[in-house]
Amino acid sequence: MAGQAVTEADVMRALSTVRDPDLGRDLVSLGMIENLSIEGDVVSFTVVLTTPACPLRGRIESDCRRAVSALPGVRAVNIKMDARVVQGRGQQGKQGIPGVRNVIAVASGKGGVGKTTVSVNLALALADSGARVGVLDADITGPNVPLMIGARGEPRAQNNKIEPLVAYGVKVISIAFFIPEGTPVIWRGPMVGGAIQQFLHDVLWGELDYLVVDLPPGTGDASISLAQLIPLSGVVIVSTPQDVALMDAQKSLAMFQKLAAPILGIVENMSYFICPHCQERVDIFGHGGAERAAERLGVPFLGRIPLNPAIRAGGDEGVPILRRDPTSPEATAFREVAERVAARISVVALGPTGKRPTWVPLPVVRS
Ligand SMILES: Nc1ncnc2c1ncn2[C@@H]1O[C@H](COP(=O)(O)OP(=O)(O)O)[C@@H](O)[C@H]1O
Ligand SMILES: [Mg+2]
Repeated sequence: MAGQAVTEADVMRALSTVRDPDLGRDLVSLGMIENLSIEGDVVSFTVVLTTPACPLRGRIESDCRRAVSALPGVRAVNIKMDARVVQGRGQQGKQGIPGVRNVIAVASGKGGVGKTTVSVNLALALADSGARVGVLDADITGPNVPLMIGARGEPRAQNNKIEPLVAYGVKVISIAFFIPEGTPVIWRGPMVGGAIQQFLHDVLWGELDYLVVDLPPGTGDASISLAQLIPLSGVVIVSTPQDVALMDAQKSLAMFQKLAAPILGIVENMSYFICPHCQERVDIFGHGGAERAAERLGVPFLGRIPLNPAIRAGGDEGVPILRRDPTSPEATAFREVAERVAARISVVALGPTGKRPTWVPLPVVRS
C-alpha cells in the first residue's frame, strides 16, 4: 500500500529543526537549503554552508539526514554539502574590493607577538579548507609575510595592475617584492596609506573569499588607512598572555571599535610551552590572560597557539607549521582558530536575524 507522498513543505519543515550550531539558527531560516527535489520516496538537496572552514559539516549533514529520514514516505536522502562564503557586512557605506568577499585585518598592540605568524597560518588554514585566499602585507616598514610564507620573486604588471605572487595556493602581495632585500622602507604616513590603497585596488586579487591583512603593530597609519579605505569584515587581535601585551591589545581593539570595524576576537599566541623532554606544560607568560581579557572586553576568544620552536622555524624557513607538520598540535591550534574566525565572520555578516542574501556573482577584476 502506497503511503502519503512526501512534499517539499514537509522536508523544509523537517529541516527547519536542524540548527547550525555556530550561527545558532536553523538551516531554513538561514537560507542554506537549495536544489530541493523529490522523486517518489527519494529526497535530494544541497546544504550551502557559509564557509568551507566549517568544523561541524559532518554533524550538520547527519542532523539533516536524520530529520528528513524520519518523515513518512522517505526511503532515501541524498545530501550534497557545499559552501559559499558570505560577504562580510563591513562598515556602513564603504565600497569594497570587487570580487573580494571578506577582508580580515590581523592587528596587535605591540610588535613581536606573532601577528605575521598568525596571518600566514590563518590564511593557509582557510585555503586548506577550500576557500580562495589572499594575504596583503600591510606592514610597510617591516614586511615579513614573504619570508614567512615562502614567496619570492617579482610580481608582474598587467595594464597598470599588479599580479600577486602565489605561495601554497595563497595570493600574496608585499612591499618587500618591490624593494631590494635589506633596504629599509622609511615612509611617512601618507605614503603608507598610498601603498595600502594601491595594494587593495591595483592588485589583481580576482575572486577571493578571504583577504587576510597583516598589519603593523599599534594604532598607526596603516591600521587607520585600512579601516577607512575599505569595509572590514572584521579584526583579529593577536596578543601574548601577559599583562603588558594585553594592555596594548586593548588599545588596538578600542581603535578599531572607534572606526566601527567588527571585532572578530582575540587570539592568544605563545600561550604555553610543552616541554619536548618531559611533556610538561609550562605557562611561560602566565595562563589564560587573553581569554580573561576577551571576557572583560566583551569580545570572543578565538583560541590559543602554543609557543613552539617549530612555529618559529617554519616562519624562518618560509614553510609555515601548517605545511611543515600539518598534524601537529600547533597546526591543529591554528586550524581551530581559523574555523572560529570563519564562523565569526558568518555570524557578523548574517546578524541575529539575517538570511543569506540571494547570491549574485561578484564581478571579477580582469584587465
Ligand atoms: N607560537 C609561536 N611559537 C614560537 N615562535 C613564534 C610563535 N609565534 C611567533 N613566533 C616567532 O616570534 C617571532 C615574532 O613573530 P611575528 O609573527 O613576526 O610577530 P609580529 O608580526 O607580531 O611582529 C618570529 O620569529 C616568529 O617565528
Ligand atoms: Mg609582523
